[in-house]
This record gives sequence, structure tokens and C-alpha cells, in this order.
Amino acid sequence: MSINMKGGQPYAGGYGMPTPFGVIYSTNITPDPDSGIGRWSEAAFMRAMHEGVSRDGSHLYPAFPYDHFTKVADEDVRALYAFLMTREPVSAPAQRNTLPFPFNIRVLQAGWKLLFMDQGRYRPVAGKSEAWNRGAYLAEGLSHCAACHTPRNVLGAEKAADDSYAGAMIEGWFAPALTAANTTPLPWTQDELFTYLRSGATALHGVAAGKMSDVVHDLGRLPDADIQAIAVYFADLNGSSALKTGSDEALAKALATSALGSRLEPDAGAVLYWAACGSCHYKSATTPLSVRPELALNSALTAATPDTFIHIVMAGIGLEEGIPNVLMPAFSQALNDGAGLLCDPPWQHFLPVPVWTTDAPK
Ligand code: HEC
Ligand code: HEC
Repeated sequence: MSINMKGGQPYAGGYGMPTPFGVIYSTNITPDPDSGIGRWSEAAFMRAMHEGVSRDGSHLYPAFPYDHFTKVADEDVRALYAFLMTREPVSAPAQRNTLPFPFNIRVLQAGWKLLFMDQGRYRPVAGKSEAWNRGAYLAEGLSHCAACHTPRNVLGAEKAADDSYAGAMIEGWFAPALTAANTTPLPWTQDELFTYLRSGATALHGVAAGKMSDVVHDLGRLPDADIQAIAVYFADLNGSSALKTGSDEALAKALATSALGSRLEPDAGAVLYWAACGSCHYKSATTPLSVRPELALNSALTAATPDTFIHIVMAGIGLEEGIPNVLMPAFSQALNDGAGLLCDPPWQHFLPVPVWTTDAPK
């Protein structure tokens, strides 16, 4: 079975999302009357966004993140409807989802909603600034940052309260914690968050690759003020101002780790690293450079799982990802992943059991 992950016509659907329950395909939201939403009234569209109910009354799967879109203000949903209804209609019938019994029974989604969905528009939090509330509105609603950064329970719902933004696996990548639990040595301050979300890279934290690269591209259409608002919200959530102490020390330590070594290390991994990576990732400046990510400061190497790191080394980082027009080469022809990880079905990564091993290369 091949899953169409990218490509296709804009808004015409067919994007396959592997979930622990099977593959779910996005549907056509162009105004085509037969295969798209051309016959949908604005009220039907509003109901789908806010309540997760299709035009015909059936329940939508939460892979369409209506648990977040329910927070989007009516006037923004109306604007989205007007936008979609003026796109080019494309005839593209829906692909069949591959959900096995009982997950294919849509009526069960009603129970899921009762259990996990908190319906209702975003309500500003008193005592927080306007920017904070704008950031929270964008992050919790349309941007649905939690859909990837919050771990899910066995029924695929985001875990509430304590686990909010605690970091999660998404399609074989690790989306790091956006709370104080983030493992990078330097704090994600408002400035760092803004630079990362606006440009896709920072000298102190590295680049946005994979799924996060798509997010940065999508956010590209928002004005600076909205990106700044999201940064305000997450800098408050992670308490980065309180975490600042010790940053200089952490930076000095990281820079020392990535200074050019003797290249005579007795360790096989170190030898391999200097041969394959050192020519670009060596340190030549006293301050970190974003075009040569400081690996010791990076989430990919400080996270509890190596999945993101393995993805990046195997597939590289294309010219459109991370820093525009800067390439990290792919090593899949030269190295193996040492854990058979990329050969495993993607949905394994959603299971609440450890799925990667440190077995010898196979
Ligand atoms: C579709 C899934 C997805 C969505 C939605 C998403 N992210 Fe991410 N995010 C990821 C992944 C995967 C990574 C790791 C990427 C990498 O290491 O290059 C990541 C990385 C990050 C990082 C870097 C963390 C670190 O320690 O390196 C930040 C900050 C971040 N995301 C913020 C956000 C914000 C804010 C939003 C909402 C506006 C958001 N993300 C929405 C998947 C997502
Ligand atoms: C030809 C130069 C080059 C080589 C060789 C190279 N890299 Fe990179 N690497 C880069 C560049 C440039 C980036 C930033 C890419 C971007 O923004 O598009 C990067 C990014 C990365 C990242 C992502 C950091 C982040 O912020 O998420 C990791 C991890 C990484 N490299 C690891 C390695 C490893 C491990 C090797 C050796 C197997 C290696 N690189 C070899 C140039 C290189």
C-alpha cells in the first residue's frame, strides 16, 4: 500500500495519515460539488469545524483536528469558508480509509467526543496580556501545536493537563516538549521561539526539519506580530525566563564538546562521526552558527528517543527545509540506522511501548 504523503492538488485531499488505528486520508475541501464541499452551506462547514460532524450528519474522525478547531472564532471560520469556496474546484473522490473494525464505525466517534472533546470557542484568560491571549488562540486553535507536541492516550486523544505539550511521537519523528521538560541545554526564550518559528532555524537550537518544517512554512503567511504572540505564549508556558541561569555555562560546555577533537579517539562512533560529519559540524567560531548546527545544543541529540536524529541523518535536510537553500546531505546510501527503525511500520511509533532498540546493525 502506498500512502500519498505529499503532492497532489491544493486542498483536494488524499493526504494519508498513518495512525495506530490504520491510515486515514484527508478529504477534498475544494468547492467541487460532487467530491468536494461545493454543496456545503456555511453552517455545515461551521458545524464540521466546531463539532466534528459532516454535512450528512456522520461523525468525523479526530485526525481532522476539530478538537482544536472548536476553539476558532466564528468570524475566522467564516473567512476560511469564503477562502475555500473561491479555490479551484478539483474532482477528486475520497480515498478509502484503512481503519479496521471497530475503529471504522463512525458512530463510535460520538463516544470519543463525549470522553475527550471539550467543545467551545477560545476564551481569553484574564490577567494575561493581549499578545499572550492571541498566541494561545492561534496555538490552541488553528495551529493545533498540541496535535503533535502532546502525547496521546490509547484511544488517540491528547492527554490532558499535566501532559500537555510534554513531547510526543508523530509519524516516526519526535516532537519535543514545549514545556520546561524540553531537553535542550539552552532555554527556549521568546526570542529563540520567534526566530525558530519565523525563519526555521536558530543558532542556539538548530533547524526545523520534517513535519515542523511544514509548520514553519504554513506560519510563513502570518504577520510577525502573530508569530511573536505564539512565542510569548510558549515562553510563558515553559518558564524560560526562570531557566536562564546557567545558560552561559551550558553554552560553553556544548561548544567545548563540538570543538575539533584529536580525531584519534579510540571510540568507533567518534571515528565515524569525524569521518562523516566533522567536515561540516566542526566548530570554528566562538559563537554558534545556524548554518552549522551545534549538535550538542540540539533536541535531536538530547531527546530520550533517537528517532528524529536517525531521520535527519538518513534523509538529510532538503533545500526547502530548515535554513532555505542550505543542505544537509542524506546518508541513507552510506550509513545504516543501526536499529532497523525506518523499516518498521510507522504506526509502531504511536504505540505506548518502547519500539526502538539498540541492537547491532541488521
Ligand atoms: C505536524 C506536527 C507538528 C505540529 C502541528 C507542530 N509541530 Fe513543532 N515540531 C514537530 C516536530 C516533528 C519537531 C522536531 C523537528 C526537528 O527536530 O527538526 C518539532 C519541533 C518544534 C520545536 C523545536 C523544539 C526543540 O527542542 O528542538 C518548537 C519550538 C516547535 N516545534 C514549536 C511548535 C509550535 C509553536 C507549533 C504550533 C504553532 C508546532 N510546533 C506545531 C511537529 C509539529
Ligand atoms: C556537507 C555538510 C554536512 C555534513 C557532511 C553533515 N551535515 Fe549535518 N547539517 C549540515 C547543515 C548545513 C545543517 C543545517 C541544514 C539546514 O538547515 O538545511 C545540518 C543539520 C544537521 C542536524 C539537524 C540539527 C537540527 O537543528 O535539527 C543534525 C542532527 C545533523 N546535521 C547531523 C549530522 C550528522 C550526524 C552527520 C554525519 C553523519 C552530518 N550531520 C553531516 C551540514 C552537514
